[in-house]
Amino acid sequence: MMRTHTCGELRADQLGQEVQLAGWIRFSRDHGGVLFFDLADTYGTTQAVFDPEAMSRKDVRESLERMLKSFGRESVISVAGVVRNRVPGTEDPRNPTGQLEVLIEDACLLNSSRSLPFEVADQKGSLLPSEDLRLKYRFLDLRRTQMANNLRFRHRVVAALRRALDDRDFVEVETPMLCRQTPEGARDFIVPSRIAPGTFYALPQSPQLYKQMLMVGGMDRYYQVARCFRDEDSRSDRQPEFTQLDLEMSFVDDRDVQTVVEGVLSSMWRSIYGRELKAPFPRVTFHEAMHSYGTDAPDIRYGLRLHDVTDIVKNARYEIFQRILGKGGRVVCMNVQADLMNGAGGEEGAVGRNEVDRLIEWAKAQGMGGLTWMRMTADGLQSNIVKYFPTEVTAALQTEMGAREGDLLLFLAGSEIAALKAGGELRRKLARDLRLTEGKDHQFVWLVGCPLFQKDSESGQLEPFHHPFVCPEKGEVEGEDPICVGGLSYDLVLDGSEIGSGSVRCHDPEVQRKVFRLLGMSDEKIDNDFGFFLDALGYGAPPHGGIALGLDRLTAILLGCDTIREVIAFPKNKKFQSLMDGCPAKVEEGKLSELQLLCLAGDEEDGD
Ligand code: AMO
Repeated sequence: MMRTHTCGELRADQLGQEVQLAGWIRFSRDHGGVLFFDLADTYGTTQAVFDPEAMSRKDVRESLERMLKSFGRESVISVAGVVRNRVPGTEDPRNPTGQLEVLIEDACLLNSSRSLPFEVADQKGSLLPSEDLRLKYRFLDLRRTQMANNLRFRHRVVAALRRALDDRDFVEVETPMLCRQTPEGARDFIVPSRIAPGTFYALPQSPQLYKQMLMVGGMDRYYQVARCFRDEDSRSDRQPEFTQLDLEMSFVDDRDVQTVVEGVLSSMWRSIYGRELKAPFPRVTFHEAMHSYGTDAPDIRYGLRLHDVTDIVKNARYEIFQRILGKGGRVVCMNVQADLMNGAGGEEGAVGRNEVDRLIEWAKAQGMGGLTWMRMTADGLQSNIVKYFPTEVTAALQTEMGAREGDLLLFLAGSEIAALKAGGELRRKLARDLRLTEGKDHQFVWLVGCPLFQKDSESGQLEPFHHPFVCPEKGEVEGEDPICVGGLSYDLVLDGSEIGSGSVRCHDPEVQRKVFRLLGMSDEKIDNDFGFFLDALGYGAPPHGGIALGLDRLTAILLGCDTIREVIAFPKNKKFQSLMDGCPAKVEEGKLSELQLLCLAGDEEDGD
């Protein structure tokens, strides 16, 4: 046995006991010949002390001292000794083992460490090395308490979700990694086949078609902690490979799936936080989300709702608005209520004149012409442009916006989509600046009522709003302008980020074929790409639906991390490279020729 206890385990009960610990030397210091070591493992840190005066045999003392002095930081050692109280006044109340120390009687080096590229001991945020350096030496970064805690938390979340699904009779089934591409809207990672040269597998963007096939196969309730692969552009909440909690159920409607998800998340909540999660979650329609919050992933923990005030301000002689309205644009308005600003500690609040000027610059950087403002005073709405607004217009604005003394009205004008989107960004910015979510509990929201299709902005071609397997709201796509058809889909939003998406599916092969056709696919292409799937639906596919929750995003939000890379053991960096093992990397020519891909290598040489 290399250890009797972990480095986080010793308490008063062990006082006077002979123990053996093993771990990494996180810190060491020499106080006048007395050597102190912070011995750490993933469970905690224990102080180990070498006191020459406590050792009677000179030869043993000298050789032990020599050895201990030779140990560098992050060396792995094992020490044996007696547990004793620390000298009064030197206890560390923040550390659960901080009352005690181990008086070293013997030690051995299990492995030494090379000199460190960065400090593993916990540092304040600003002293952290660059993320790329952390990722290159991720194995060291993972020793940091923060990272170890993140991974443990993630494990607890996933374990609790698994238990909750198991309690509800869900069966975990693994689906293939080498598959035919499933269209989820992103590019695929392609894997060449050696045995059938010139043909390729794709890595799954999600197990979408397989889980539907499992329903056709009578599985009834399936789930999977599923790895997904998408060749998308980098974002703080996107990785090329990520993990979904994927589930699918037969004989359900949209509400049934939502209720199960609420139940499963509530069980997880209880297990992680020891309290109840408020369910059912509020539901916001896509229309309301876009028009009131300027986003399809609304954070409803604070107000700052957007109001379309076009019909009110069209009667103002304010030239900027008139010009934009003349081009069919809209004006949206937000009321930053006085108490929100005062809460953030200010007179004219945290949004005084200078801050408004900064917001105007910010709006310009967002691609808007600028931002118009009015402040509500005892004498009504005031600003440098209020003279262009007749009294009946300002009165109507006051009523529409519920403006009270001290409130600040902010206006954004542009095309409808630009004004709403900028309004959404402004909401987010103000919530951050005024710290509106501080101390507030997390908030799940269902986004419902999304359309089945949207139009590609350039080609005008219909494309799926989510993916092509969503069941139309009325079970049929005929008889209506396709762009007006609703889909039986639902997104799960947490604190203003989409963390999940699901739907009831088309189980009727004819309806599914019509959807494909509306997406511009010929019958030949449909049969070629999806013949196997339509065929399966034709063998008595039950009505079914499901959802996938992004586990990386869920955990990152619960932990308050800025990026999902903080909750993934070995993520890719912002350029989607793995710096630790150096990939993507070139492959030997021999391997490429085996796959009949040598032309690629040749092309590259030509280009060099
Ligand atoms: P969707 O594509 O919306 O739906 O994905 C579901 C959830 O997965 C997470 N997610 C990601 N997380 C990290 N990096 C990425 N690149 C990434 N892409 C998506 C998000 C998202 O909400 N098959 C459907 C689900 C279904 O209909 O059942 C699907 O995959 O949290």
